Amino acid sequence: LPSSDALSLPLAIAHRGLSAYAPENTLAAVRAAHEAGLSWVELDVQLLGDGTPVIWHDASVNRCSDGRGRLKNLDLATAQALDTGSWFNACFANERMATLEDMLTLLSSLGMGLNLELKLSPGHDVQALIDAVIPMAVTHLPAECLIISSFDPQALRLTRQQNAVVNIGLLYDDIPKDWLVLADELSAVSVHADWRALTRVAASDVAASGRKLLCYTPNDAAAFAPRWAWGVDAVISDDPSIFSEESPSVIS
Ligand code: G3P
Ligand code: MG
Repeated sequence: LPSSDALSLPLAIAHRGLSAYAPENTLAAVRAAHEAGLSWVELDVQLLGDGTPVIWHDASVNRCSDGRGRLKNLDLATAQALDTGSWFNACFANERMATLEDMLTLLSSLGMGLNLELKLSPGHDVQALIDAVIPMAVTHLPAECLIISSFDPQALRLTRQQNAVVNIGLLYDDIPKDWLVLADELSAVSVHADWRALTRVAASDVAASGRKLLCYTPNDAAAFAPRWAWGVDAVISDDPSIFSEESPSVIS
């Protein structure tokens, strides 16, 4: 069974890549994270209409590209004709939607870790997503460099059915009272919670269970700081550099 001890987690993980400085969920955002000295990224994955797994957050391409429409209505050629960088900054005009395979190849070559979030948009086939994503992810990255997370318990159950040993993280806004039931059922190694909803009691419960506690998406290190002492293991931030002065070892 997976163990959280085997994870090589840093204190700070780049949310959607280094999304404060590059267009989110792109190869450029991962290269930027690596250049900033970061060893892990969080990225979102879902399927195009033709079944290709791609790194993308929203159900549509409207916000993060020069096109319009829903992801499930695009095939790979149409999706990769879009400019997915200019919306962020003109210097990223050549950026294209990344396939999961291209992203995993990049992460592997850089020796980076990945928290891959399974995004279920309305109308998407959960089993098809799992079948396309999990075998590919575990083939490219070593076990200690990969956590699969999702807000959707069914997606995580199907992930565990697909693979007995892959690291699973439970993703919550507010950690529910019965989180440990699902954590035990899935042999989850981590719990990922919205930092603003985290309570000291929930944090200590996660720590007591031996699981890692990750918080998204703090972008204010001073406001977040008291939570390190609650037992938080890592933050998932748009700009992890703001945490470089923060350390659990110096905050008591
Ligand atoms: O995985 C943590 C965080 O990414 C969850 O929210 O909307 O940014 O994908 P979201
Ligand atoms: Mg995410």
